[in-house]
Amino acid sequence: MKAKATTPEAPPQAVEPAAEATPQPVSRNAAKKALLIEALSYIGRYKGKIVVIKYGGAAQENEAVRITFAHDVVLLQSLGMLPVIVHGGGPEVSRAMKIMGQEAKFVDGLRVTTREGLAVTEMVLSGSVNKEIVALLNAQGGHAVGISGKDGPILQARKLRHPKGIDLGYVGEIEAVHPELVQLLLKQGFIPVISPLGQGTDGTTFNINADSAASRIAGALKAEKVIFLTDVDGVMKDGQLVPALSAAEALSLIDRGVISGGMVPKVEALLHCLASGVGTATIINGAEHHAIIAELFTDTGVGTQIRG
Ligand SMILES: Nc1ncnc2c1ncn2[C@@H]1O[C@H](COP(=O)(O)OP(=O)(O)OP(=O)(O)O)[C@@H](O)[C@H]1O
Ligand SMILES: [Mg+2]
Repeated sequence: MKAKATTPEAPPQAVEPAAEATPQPVSRNAAKKALLIEALSYIGRYKGKIVVIKYGGAAQENEAVRITFAHDVVLLQSLGMLPVIVHGGGPEVSRAMKIMGQEAKFVDGLRVTTREGLAVTEMVLSGSVNKEIVALLNAQGGHAVGISGKDGPILQARKLRHPKGIDLGYVGEIEAVHPELVQLLLKQGFIPVISPLGQGTDGTTFNINADSAASRIAGALKAEKVIFLTDVDGVMKDGQLVPALSAAEALSLIDRGVISGGMVPKVEALLHCLASGVGTATIINGAEHHAIIAELFTDTGVGTQIRG
């Protein structure tokens, strides 16, 4: 992935000067005004509020969309919101492991992180992926600071205790979140960009699922909103998008295997952060241009809203 300081491919439409505007049918103008009023009403609502955005590895695959993502995050900040980015980077880690001749190991469908695998994971997530996101945000006029969950340490972790006793190596679970460093950066006007690595009390580094990291950080910050960007429109059932899911419905879909794979930790993480006081939680398609704007500034929003 390469950061490019170019104009987003699909920037928000500038409002044309009135004198040059072609006269438009009244109904079209009315629709435009209604949309603007709808959007503006959300600006006041989110001003000064923390919005945690989980930027999934799957949503980072398209370069043009990466640039509009950065553009939108900087726009949110300029509107007075306090964005915090927690990112994944699974596909990039897999590519790096392949280049280094490391094989991905799975036990019972779960990825194992060996000592060598951890070294590559940390190098990619806290190195190239984190710094590219920072560069993209800064190229759009933002002031982003890239840190790892180990800084602070924000994410105090321990070895994951799998319910079936499966040993996943250096995969960690979060024991405690210390959000002070993130709060400090927000207070000084920076956009924190956090990679999902955690540290044990004995100094051991752990690879943390980015969905868990984002939801726990959102909970500790008492965020107004948490948005998970992935590569699908939201939770799908029978080929259709589910616009809203209650906790009971979500758990039943997981039980029935309708929600599977990477969507399971996502939904579980969002249920967890709603229980810990986060205002609203939504899964959206980060592979679409300006998905965050459509979610935050329209009444209907996009994606799947998880209700606690
Ligand atoms: N019911 C479902 N609705 C939508 N997606 C589902 C469902 N069940 C399983 N999935 C899978 O979950 C995937 C999203 O999770 P995934 O872990 O791959 O992405 P991510 O979390 O955004 O990226 P990363 O893990 O790299 O940060 C989808 O691409 C889809 O294949
Ligand atoms: Mg995932």
